[in-house]
Amino acid sequence: MAEENGKKPAGQALQERLSQVNDRMQDSQAWSSIFRPGSIFRKGYSDSPRNRSYVIMNSVMYHLHPVKVKRHAVKVSYTLCLGGLSFFLFILLTVTGIFLMFFYRPTAAQAWDDIQILQTAVGFGLLVRNMHRWAAHLMVLTVFLHMARVFYHGAYKPPREFNWVIGVMLLQLTLLLSFTGYLLPWDQLALWAVTVGTNMMGFTPVFGEQVRFVLLGGVEIGTDTLLRWYVLHVLMLPFVIVIFMAIHFWRVRKDGGISGPL
Ligand code: HEM
Repeated sequence: MAEENGKKPAGQALQERLSQVNDRMQDSQAWSSIFRPGSIFRKGYSDSPRNRSYVIMNSVMYHLHPVKVKRHAVKVSYTLCLGGLSFFLFILLTVTGIFLMFFYRPTAAQAWDDIQILQTAVGFGLLVRNMHRWAAHLMVLTVFLHMARVFYHGAYKPPREFNWVIGVMLLQLTLLLSFTGYLLPWDQLALWAVTVGTNMMGFTPVFGEQVRFVLLGGVEIGTDTLLRWYVLHVLMLPFVIVIFMAIHFWRVRKDGGISGPL
């Protein structure tokens, strides 16, 4: 009836209006400066193999989770998802670590007490602290097993030798994150473990004394050491490991995806 009068039905008119708004939005400068050419959100690209490659290359999401992968690469029994598990544990450590930061002060006078209060008086405090601790232990294990898997598959050979070296850096950073976190509860175990560790580093050839001084923030372990290791643990090492992880994931794609089966 409405169409006979020359008017469109309300539903259709609304749909057209929305589509016009959508077109105007996607033609705007703000939209095209956010979504780069090749993005699925940017119009004007036909569905061709070349343009599909552009879509993958220009999107971080598709880089990590591409449209096309080789059949063997999605077989869980090949990678055991150990790299992915290491990454998942890192994210879990970041989230639980931020929670812990709300209740912890890195000084010799407060650190130990803060952890006792966190465990006994803060809602979910004990759970989150234990999640952080267990995830840290597990991450060391999964990173090590991931390295063993890569070695067993010979995936360290060209063209993946650069990514192997990045991996070695990631292993070291993971161990350093674990070790710096170990001091933070400021209990007897932490204190003496770090005393032993830094004494050993004091035997570094030529620069031994200097290395020890820098790590302790003084001549013996104390509140300056705690602050130094805290900053390393919550800021510097996570920042560096994120950069190395980004290079690591990018390189997996650049080297042609996961290596082939034996
Ligand atoms: C924080 C630690 C690490 C994370 C989050 C990580 C993550 C990943 C991920 C997600 C992959 C894709 C395949 C898979 O899951 O197995 C991968 C592949 C790879 N990783 Fe790691 N990795 C880490 C440490 C290492 C270490 C310690 C090494 C060796 C020293 C290493 C060497 C490699 C190599 C060579 C590949 C390519 C493997 C292939 O093509 O089969 N990664 N990594």
